[in-house]
Amino acid sequence: MSTKKIIAVVGATGAQGGGVVRAICADPNGPFTARAITRDVNSDKARELAALGAEVVAADIDDAESLRRAFEGAYGAFCVTFFWAHFSAEKEIEEARNMATAARDAGVQHVIWSTLEDTRKLVPLSDDRMPTLHGKYKVPHFDGKGEADAIFTELGVPTTFLLTSFFWENFIFFGMAPSRGEDGKLGITLPMGDAKLPGISAEDIGRAAYGIFQHPDLIGQYVGIAGDHLSGSEMAAAFTKVIGEDVRYNSVPPEVFRSFGFPGADDLGNMFQYKRDFENEFRGARSVEETRKLNPALQSFDTWLEANKERIPVPAK
Ligand SMILES: NC(=O)c1ccc[n+]([C@@H]2O[C@H](COP(=O)([O-])OP(=O)(O)OC[C@H]3O[C@@H](n4cnc5c(N)ncnc54)[C@H](OP(=O)(O)O)[C@@H]3O)[C@@H](O)[C@H]2O)c1
Repeated sequence: MSTKKIIAVVGATGAQGGGVVRAICADPNGPFTARAITRDVNSDKARELAALGAEVVAADIDDAESLRRAFEGAYGAFCVTFFWAHFSAEKEIEEARNMATAARDAGVQHVIWSTLEDTRKLVPLSDDRMPTLHGKYKVPHFDGKGEADAIFTELGVPTTFLLTSFFWENFIFFGMAPSRGEDGKLGITLPMGDAKLPGISAEDIGRAAYGIFQHPDLIGQYVGIAGDHLSGSEMAAAFTKVIGEDVRYNSVPPEVFRSFGFPGADDLGNMFQYKRDFENEFRGARSVEETRKLNPALQSFDTWLEANKERIPVPAK
């Protein structure tokens, strides 16, 4: 019988969870095996994970009992919620409660909860530098996760609180690729002024989580991760290099970004403003050096961009 410890991974067919499963499977002599959690064990992505050597099981984070079964016998669990699937912080909090309860009931010994800051600690609802959203949040997709941290603690779940950073994959999948202005010139648009934005490849989140599972001493701690901290101008210069055409940085005020009209523009506008206004706190919580200790393969933005340049949907001239 295998003496390896099972790590149950929520969101295994997605960005963060997929990175965790691949990191575990890439180290067949390591201490862990991966249990990939998906709602559809027959999907192509689920089959790809099985082919890598992961056990694939069905569960839904909206169904607490299915989660408890999926966590049963596991040493560790990687827990993540999917704000952009429903745009509801309340739902994320309930889903976090489901995962924390299932982890407690199944006796999981090390949970990584992929959380973010509750921005209301620094920007109370009374602070009108940015609008209050959905009645009680400043940055709903941050605040719900941050509020849910207390659930893991109150339920006595041995948890490491993982503070992730802006995924560079947003430049591929999330509509943030360089676009052409009215003058035909390429640009990236962020409401960040000269502030630097911590970023990371989603794959490196998985590798860092793998490192955290090997460090039970990190239970009860917050661990912030990033591969680089770069300003909009620095990222634009990196794009210019790999695309071979000038890419400029359009720094817009947060209120302009909020008014762009795509779903969640107000949430993201507030988020970038928070990262700009509290640059020291936000960057201070995400050390690149410490991240590299957990994940020696950590990529810089230049390295990631060079490896992914063909995937960036640059509009034709
Ligand atoms: N984009 C960024 O820059 C960024 C930065 C920091 C944090 N985040 C946070 O990252 C989170 C999303 O993580 P991600 O990007 O890794 O997710 P993702 O790539 O969108 O992964 C979604 C996966 O989760 C599974 N899933 C969705 N709903 C589920 C449910 N109800 N029960 C079980 N599984 C479910 C789906 O798998 P199946 O269909 O196979 O079930 C899907 O493949 C968001 O909450 C976001 O706020 C994003």
